[in-house]
Amino acid sequence: AADISSLYKEAGIFTFDPGFMSTASCHSAITFIDGEKGVLLYRGYPIEQLATKASFLEVVYLLLYGELPNEKALVGFEKLVSRHTMLNENLKNFLDGFHYDAHPMSILIGVVGSLSAFYHDSLSVNEYHDREISAHRLIAKLPTIAAAAYKHSIGEPIMYPRNDLRFCANFLHMMFATPCEDYKPRLVAEKALNLLFILHADHEQNASTSTVRLAGSSGANPFACLAAGIASLWGPAHGGANEAVLDMLLEIGSVDNVPRYIEKAKDKDDPFRLMGFGHRVYKNYDPRAKIIREVCHQVLEELAEANNPLFDLAMKLEDIALNDEYFVERKLYPNVDFYSGIIYQALGIPRNMFTVMFAIARTVGWVSHWMEMMSDSNNRIGRPRQIYCGPSQRDYLPISRR
Ligand code: ACO
Repeated sequence: AADISSLYKEAGIFTFDPGFMSTASCHSAITFIDGEKGVLLYRGYPIEQLATKASFLEVVYLLLYGELPNEKALVGFEKLVSRHTMLNENLKNFLDGFHYDAHPMSILIGVVGSLSAFYHDSLSVNEYHDREISAHRLIAKLPTIAAAAYKHSIGEPIMYPRNDLRFCANFLHMMFATPCEDYKPRLVAEKALNLLFILHADHEQNASTSTVRLAGSSGANPFACLAAGIASLWGPAHGGANEAVLDMLLEIGSVDNVPRYIEKAKDKDDPFRLMGFGHRVYKNYDPRAKIIREVCHQVLEELAEANNPLFDLAMKLEDIALNDEYFVERKLYPNVDFYSGIIYQALGIPRNMFTVMFAIARTVGWVSHWMEMMSDSNNRIGRPRQIYCGPSQRDYLPISRR
């Protein structure tokens, strides 16, 4: 039988980089990150400037088309997006089929994947026009699907989108209005959501964006690719961390228990990790966490949640971890998701919707990367190799001789 190592000699050389710690998978002009200096730029613009000055749809336009829109372009784009916010009525039947306590992320994966069955008219991935319509549909429909998943879980009727409202206000309306009661979102809530959506809109080749690109590299339709991205986002090491942070804070329960949990996080025999701490790329601080930390206080104060015990607990945890040798040595700092859950909670968004909120924002990054990849004439199917470590070649034995 042939020896595996001799087979490898014939296969040539390739790199072994588990977790893709130092492998670039593509060229991209969308987002720049300097992990050492804590820099994040969208199309060249610092995240700090966009987060404080831009509207979410302005940032969507920037990520998708490469430039900030002028006033006329922005108004036109807002109209365009609002035209796609409705769902096909038959999707309601699909939604109704989910168990009442299904996690909204599972509903999101299913419903977004099913959009390819409803929009045959725009599935030609080789036509720019088709790709663009799909991108607009996804950006516009994600909030409607997300809110519908929530309404399904609490047994309330789905609220139709209101296109006279801004993007974030419309989402809050679909979440919290009922057919018998209107809901007027407070400006502070709308602004906080706008900020969180901007901070989460893109982050170059993270696990979910790489998943969307890999799925799309085979020519699969964008709705299917996005469903794959949402599935990847769900994990607690990625987008699921914001939900896991709140679970963790509730488990810790009180400031007095913080030191014990810090010790658990350091113990290698204990699977417990400090959720919301650490980042693959940021090794000094996460610039998004810095922005969000500042507004977190302000939002909680304005929403009359100033004495939110979870926020106090989070601050204590942050303080102890930042001064602990273990965390300092490994450069483990709070990431954006350490704070986002606390704000979402203050906005009245239930915990199982936190990762869904992340998905609404990241849809913009996913479709921007998918559009960029599909416009690249050098795009090739993504096909990593492996180092095989199984048995050498051997012969089949009849079942009576095994
Ligand atoms: N708590 C305790 N120890 C940690 C933590 C943590 N949150 N994160 C990393 N470490 C330790 C590891 O055990 C390892 O220690 P060792 O060198 O003694 O073995 C060291 O720090 C390096 O960690 P890695 O796991 O190798 O780092 P990696 O880059 O692979 O993982 C990740 C990054 C997944 C974010 C990790 O830090 C983690 O799981 N954090 C908690 C989950 C989280 O907050 N995820 C959100 C990421 S941000 C986002 O998606 C927007």
